Amino acid sequence: MLKGKKIVIGVTGSIAAYKAAILVRLLIKQGAEVQVVMTPSSKEFITPLTLSTLSGRPVLCDFFNSGSGEWHSHVELGLWADAMIVAPATAATIGKMANGIADNLLVTTYLSMKAPVFIAPAMDLDMFAHPSTQSNLQVLRGYGNHIIEPAAGELASHLCGKGRMEEPENIVQVLHDFFLAGNSLAGKHILITAGPTYEKIDPVRFIGNYSSGKMGFALAGECARRGADVTLVAGPVSLATPHPAIKRIDVESAEDMYKASVDAFPSCDAAILCAAVADYRPATCAEKKIKRTGEGMTIELEANKDIAAALGKEKREGQHLVGFALETNDGELNAREKLAKKNLDFIVLNSLADEGAGFAHDTNKVSIISQEGITEYPLKSKLEVARDIVSYLSRLLLIAVMLLLPSSLMAMGEELNAQVTLNRDKVQSADSEVFEQLKDGITQFLNERKWTASTYEEEERINCTFNFVVESYSPDGSFTCSLMVQATRPVYGSTYNTTTFKYEDKAITFSYQPYDRLDFNEDNLDNNLTAVLAFYAYMIIGFDMDSMGDLGGSEWLNKALNIANNAQTLGDAGWRAASSENNRYAIINDYMNGALEPVRKLMYKYHRFGLDMMYKNVSGGRKAIFDSMKMLKQAYDDRSLAYFPKLFLEYKNDELLNIYSQGSIKERMEVQKIVTTIDASLSTSWEKIADNHDDNQL
Ligand code: PMT
Repeated sequence: MLKGKKIVIGVTGSIAAYKAAILVRLLIKQGAEVQVVMTPSSKEFITPLTLSTLSGRPVLCDFFNSGSGEWHSHVELGLWADAMIVAPATAATIGKMANGIADNLLVTTYLSMKAPVFIAPAMDLDMFAHPSTQSNLQVLRGYGNHIIEPAAGELASHLCGKGRMEEPENIVQVLHDFFLAGNSLAGKHILITAGPTYEKIDPVRFIGNYSSGKMGFALAGECARRGADVTLVAGPVSLATPHPAIKRIDVESAEDMYKASVDAFPSCDAAILCAAVADYRPATCAEKKIKRTGEGMTIELEANKDIAAALGKEKREGQHLVGFALETNDGELNAREKLAKKNLDFIVLNSLADEGAGFAHDTNKVSIISQEGITEYPLKSKLEVARDIVSYLSRLLLIAVMLLLPSSLMAMGEELNAQVTLNRDKVQSADSEVFEQLKDGITQFLNERKWTASTYEEEERINCTFNFVVESYSPDGSFTCSLMVQATRPVYGSTYNTTTFKYEDKAITFSYQPYDRLDFNEDNLDNNLTAVLAFYAYMIIGFDMDSMGDLGGSEWLNKALNIANNAQTLGDAGWRAASSENNRYAIINDYMNGALEPVRKLMYKYHRFGLDMMYKNVSGGRKAIFDSMKMLKQAYDDRSLAYFPKLFLEYKNDELLNIYSQGSIKERMEVQKIVTTIDASLSTSWEKIADNHDDNQL
């Protein structure tokens, strides 16, 4: 993730300056390019020589190079960098940054910086807690900077409290997470409504509200920074468009906002409706200014259309709708009602009862409420609140995140969360260490190798098991094993995990010596164990991706096929016996054979349109699974000896029984027919559920 990233590190005069050296080393290790800029006083704490040696670049401190008279351009640095980190950041530098006091190269660089800035404060606890420091930090937050909160612990003063600069490893993690999110909306089109609406009474008067548009504009900026195409439908506000890539449509009334939103929504992946839309408008608008009569007057109001509810009705599969609820009382209850009524995926509740929240402030305090529960956030700047909301939305748009992220990624595994077992029945005690090392080596190989160019969040890693059953082992290091590989993925909106791949490989042979390093090159295989592991890693990822996107796993399944082809020379029957029905070569060959394309497509239909949708619409989900079963049958008919349809049923049969024991008899009978045609041995299990089937569903 940090490979090739250009990072400016600003170092200030704090005892924690030594940590800057560790930070530079860690970033260089991750492949980043680092330019250090020091304040004059920081040189009292760490030498420029140390930092220039570690970063491989001369450290910049002065505006001019005293020898050559050359000017150090903070403007160029501001354009060059992908990020700036000020670590450690003293109270003095924080104050200068907050107030634009540009009396050293670090602060001028900060003021010229076009890239995101991260600030890691380091100071004594009282200095950190002082209202002036806190207010400077708040100002910096408000400008969109990222404050990396200091940790609590023993300080240089020997006092204990909050003020210790965050550890360099954690700062690198923050940066990593930031860049990970950086493109998480690439290729997505997001509609955002913001600001108030004005409902005209006459040419000079209107009904409006206090919305400033700040919250909605912060959301638009955040989505655009993450690579989304943003359409911002803005009511009357006096704010500049926060990002050049945003398409802004200015509107005045609720009716205008409705039209612009309904027009834009069909091409959008998501909409975030943050505008405070007037629920009512005057039934008529006087043509001329209404004159004062001295009497009271009544204005008849009529209802405006509800934009959120209209989009909720139109929302198609895969589109996401986010609403806001501004409440004064019974917040959660009212928000939940709106969530359901407007068919939202989640709703952001803010309450006028919370100080600093709601209209016009630079801050907000929100809770995100969805079917899954409620997440409460503390008072933050609206820019930070926008980050929280957009991160939440990004998670919902997960498939795109996984398929569309760029390949400039950290060389660290993220994809698999593999549990490995290796039986020890055949091991003599003297060799138990070999088995231990082998198990650790396999686990590390699977989990730490980077298998794809995509990025997986920690919770998105694919859970899988590799269970080796050692049939024979000889102390010269040769093993024969069978291996059961299984992968699962969670079903959306439930706690249930569905199997996406399960296969028992009965013929694996390999040799392993203590301290062997498991490593491989897929075009030049020289080791059967790593070839087998890489093959199944790609199979698992490919199957998972096929279940997430239509034919989404091609890239990784082709890699598995490539390994299978290249491994023909490795001298193991499991690779070569391509003619037999159920060896590992046959499965990948079958799967990638054009005739089995319906099987690949069914993975998507079955999981995304079937299982994932069931939590919302049980019969719709069951119908999609039924359609996917027809695809399985078609694949089987087209190539009836293909092993794959049978393999699929082997691990899906229980799930199917469960699903169709609750559907209509007609559906159950049709699925039963498909299943038993492909694998007659499964007929008994289907006969059993026939008896307890609910006839009312017919
Ligand atoms: O703009 P700021 O000054 O930064 O303030 C931000 C905010 C307080 C306006 C914002 O955080 C917020 O809460 N926006 C929604 C305000 C609101 O109108 O809430 P509501 O509970 O009345 O509406 C519920 C949802 O339905 C909202 O998503 C709203 O956009 C939508 N709605 C309401 C009425 C209508 N006719 N059409 C709609 O789409």
